[in-house]
Amino acid sequence: MDELVDGDLTHETLIHDLNNVFETITEAAELLSSDKHWKDLAATLNRSVVRGKRLLGALPDSTPNMAVIVEDAIQSVTDYCIAARRPRMRFVRQIPADLHLPGSAKDWERVFANLFLNAAQIMHKPGRIDIAAQRTPEATTIAVSDNGPGISPELLPRIFRPNVSTKKGNGRSGLGLHIVASIVKKYSGRVQASNREGAAGAIFTIFLPVL
Ligand SMILES: Nc1ncnc2c1ncn2[C@@H]1O[C@H](COP(=O)(O)OP(=O)(O)OP(=O)(O)O)[C@@H](O)[C@H]1O
Ligand SMILES: [Mg+2]
Repeated sequence: MDELVDGDLTHETLIHDLNNVFETITEAAELLSSDKHWKDLAATLNRSVVRGKRLLGALPDSTPNMAVIVEDAIQSVTDYCIAARRPRMRFVRQIPADLHLPGSAKDWERVFANLFLNAAQIMHKPGRIDIAAQRTPEATTIAVSDNGPGISPELLPRIFRPNVSTKKGNGRSGLGLHIVASIVKKYSGRVQASNREGAAGAIFTIFLPVL
């Protein structure tokens, strides 16, 4: 009998097995795409598989141009709204075309996808999400705001902690904002949560020093 090799349950083996899962989804998407009623949903599934592979590191990472990353995250959340039959969000962007973020595009896509997803999940009717970025020689400031119900005052001080969630079911773990804060911290920045002044809705502000 062949000797068992210790310690081969590495990240690569996880990628291998998840690729099998992705293959099933891709095959199902191909079946669906032959029917004109399901073509769009098939495209949604295919984009989700690409996203999953990128998150896993099975696809090369791209340059962290903020406007490009935000478009990917918008597509990701729009796909979620379509598939989950949730109200669609309108995205309003104010992002300098040449603004580059530090490090990995994959990290920043996780940040924006989690922030947009939270806003989309809290709203029960079509809403608006604003993304505004400003750069000075010292720092980049990014604000993501929405016109949803806002955040209750008792939740605000602990909102970035893991396992803090007001959502029920669906395997929610209250990890999304913890991931956001951890990634921002990795790049020496900080993120703040608050409610908008003079209008309903939440605002998340990221401060990133230019190193
Ligand atoms: N834009 C927002 N408006 C109002 N409340 C928000 C918003 N974003 C987050 N929250 C609140 O903060 C809580 C924590 O968010 P977080 O993303 O960490 O976890 P979650 O969305 O509940 O679960 P998970 O992200 O793990 O699926 C949410 O359950 C929600 O109550
Ligand atoms: Mg979340």
